[in-house]
Amino acid sequence: MQNKAGVVRFSVSLPPPLVEEFDGVWRDMGYENRSKAIHDAMRAFISDFKWMHEKGHVAGAVLVLYYLDKPKLLEKVTIIQHKFRDIISSTTHIHLEEDKCLEIIAVNGEVNKIRRMAEELMAKKGVKQVKIAVIAP
Ligand code: NI
Repeated sequence: MQNKAGVVRFSVSLPPPLVEEFDGVWRDMGYENRSKAIHDAMRAFISDFKWMHEKGHVAGAVLVLYYLDKPKLLEKVTIIQHKFRDIISSTTHIHLEEDKCLEIIAVNGEVNKIRRMAEELMAKKGVKQVKIAVIAP
C-alpha cells in the first residue's frame, strides 16, 4: 500500500518487551517518533548485511589483531596488503603491547575483494581476530 506521500504503511507483530526496549532507545537518542527510528534501523540492517552476499562497492575498515610470536607474520600481513593495495586507502598500526598489534585497514572497493583480503589475513598463523565493518554507500 502506498499513499500520496510516497510511504508504505505496514503492520508487524513483535513481542512487547522488544518494542519497549526499542522505544526506550530511540527516545534516549532524541528521535521524535518511532517511524524515523525504524527507518534508520532498517537502513542499518541493510547496510550491515546486504554487502555480504552481493557484488558492489563498499567502504569501511578491516580490523586485524595479531601477535608477533609467529615468525615473519608482520611481513606476511604487509605482503597481503600490498597485494590488495587497490582497495586499501590507508593503514593504521597500533602497538597494543610488546608483542600484540592491531591494524586498522581503511578499505574502499569491491565487496568480493575486501572479503578475500580478510580471509587471507585470517588464515595466517598468529592472526587472532579479523573484523570487517563496512557501509554500502
Ligand atoms: Ni606493532
